[in-house]
Amino acid sequence: MTQPTPAPVMWIALDVPTQQDAEKLMARFSRHRHYKVGMELFYRMGPEAVAKWIEDGQVIFLDLKLHDIPQTVGRAVSQLAGIGVRMVTVHVHGGPAMCEEAARQGRGMDVVGVSVLTSLGQGDLEMLGITRPLPEHVAELTRLARRSGLAGVVTSGEELALVRALWPGGRFVVPGIRSAQDSPGDQKRVISPEGALWGGATDLVIGRTLTQSPDPEQKYDELEQILAQYLKERAAND
Ligand code: C5P
Repeated sequence: MTQPTPAPVMWIALDVPTQQDAEKLMARFSRHRHYKVGMELFYRMGPEAVAKWIEDGQVIFLDLKLHDIPQTVGRAVSQLAGIGVRMVTVHVHGGPAMCEEAARQGRGMDVVGVSVLTSLGQGDLEMLGITRPLPEHVAELTRLARRSGLAGVVTSGEELALVRALWPGGRFVVPGIRSAQDSPGDQKRVISPEGALWGGATDLVIGRTLTQSPDPEQKYDELEQILAQYLKERAAND
């Protein structure tokens, strides 16, 4: 029997400086369980606070973009798996041995690769000695992530179709989610929640579209409705 396709996950990005700010934000979305913690907050509040949230029932995606020698990254991943983190990011540029070791040490935690940061353009790649077109480079790193046993990749909405074609069954984490009425801010490659869902995202990073909204609670309800509608239509099409 084939496994049912899991529902996409919306991760609310806790892009705030302190644990207190993060908990204030979480209290606004009390039904919600999935949160993304980045470097800023993690380095301030530390793994014990994350472990406590997990004990309290939160599901945590640590976006630490690890990049070091294989043994060091493997051991870091092992520590995070030990406290029950659900998903973590590593830079695919760390190479196949690093990605393999990270995947091996994940023990049930999904390790997801970052290919090319959305802040980098073709000119930046050239300065690093990478001369092939950026989409080709993203494709090659996605293949490497897959071969190395990672669970999926972080991808902009623009590259979602490209990477999805390369990796049936992969996990595709899409940041830069913006509704029509939002300003893109510093994000260059944005996509609507509907576009990401129908484009095959398995995970949506929900940041300022929610937190900077004039009415975050109402916006949260809207996002929940969009997801529910998508799941209904997907079930009808199956
Ligand atoms: O507020 P906004 O929707 O721009 O939030 C984006 C979140 O996604 C931030 O936490 C940021 O670190 C993360 N992210 C990103 N672009 C990537 C990878 C992660 O914006 N390529």
